[in-house]
Amino acid sequence: MITAEQFRFFADLVKSASGIALAPGKEYLVESRLNELARGLGMKDMDEFYRKACTSLTPAIREKIVDAMTTNETYFFRDQHPFEAMKKLVFPELAKRNGNGRIRIWSAACSTGQEPYSLAMIIQEHFASLAQSGVEIVATDISRRAVEKGAAGRFTQVEVNRGLPVTLLIRHFTQNGAFWHAKDSLKNMVAFRIFNLLQPFTGLGTFDVIFCRYVLIYFDPETKDQILRRIVSALNPGGWLFLGATETPSNLPPFMKRIPLEKGVCWKRAG
Ligand SMILES: C[S@@+](CC[C@H](N)C(=O)[O-])C[C@H]1O[C@@H](n2cnc3c(N)ncnc32)[C@H](O)[C@@H]1O
Repeated sequence: MITAEQFRFFADLVKSASGIALAPGKEYLVESRLNELARGLGMKDMDEFYRKACTSLTPAIREKIVDAMTTNETYFFRDQHPFEAMKKLVFPELAKRNGNGRIRIWSAACSTGQEPYSLAMIIQEHFASLAQSGVEIVATDISRRAVEKGAAGRFTQVEVNRGLPVTLLIRHFTQNGAFWHAKDSLKNMVAFRIFNLLQPFTGLGTFDVIFCRYVLIYFDPETKDQILRRIVSALNPGGWLFLGATETPSNLPPFMKRIPLEKGVCWKRAG
């Protein structure tokens, strides 16, 4: 059983490293995930792990603790309507506006890659000329485990059964034993990278579209606002922002226009 002191220690560590807020009531989650990590690191129980973490915490173990506390739930074409809006509204507009210029998309908190690969499939299926002139999809997440899995482009049958139509599965993936591998043509469109949204965004550049979905829910209101402000400044004029269905920001700047979609909503930066 995790003690109150141990819970506070790990919750503070995770909050300062990632922004993820583990409120009281999450003791069971912390205990089960860290017990598994502790065993994997050859320690016998939470007490031993806590002592080690207090006295000799290496950056690698700190990263593993944060990684263990991330929730990587995702699936292909999650919620559908953001991807429908990309197909019907955003890509046609960007294709017209950018001509042969490069289009940059950021999947911020991409987890294991289903979100950026869904975007890449829409481009290949419906906007072949964009695919040729150059679309760069930057996919980032704080979780090394998730990013490495995304970059490998290797999915189980259960994972591809979640949201991926069979026609797209067959066209963009090849089966190898129990796994489905994204074809190189798809993988080459997505650049995966470990990145913590608490860090400055310098070096990432600016984007025409940002997907920042189902990650802000893990932060406290102050952290959420601070990240959203910086996300908005990473958008090019006329750029589009997609958040998770439950994530309605109360104080986006006035130049971010709310765009109602057939289902749901997105935001567009004034041009
Ligand atoms: C529930 S998943 C959402 C994945 C995807 N965007 C979707 O909507 O399906 C949330 C992701 O946020 C990532 N995350 C949490 N804190 C983060 C941070 N500070 N910086 C970057 N990614 C973070 C987690 O590792 C996790 O993969």
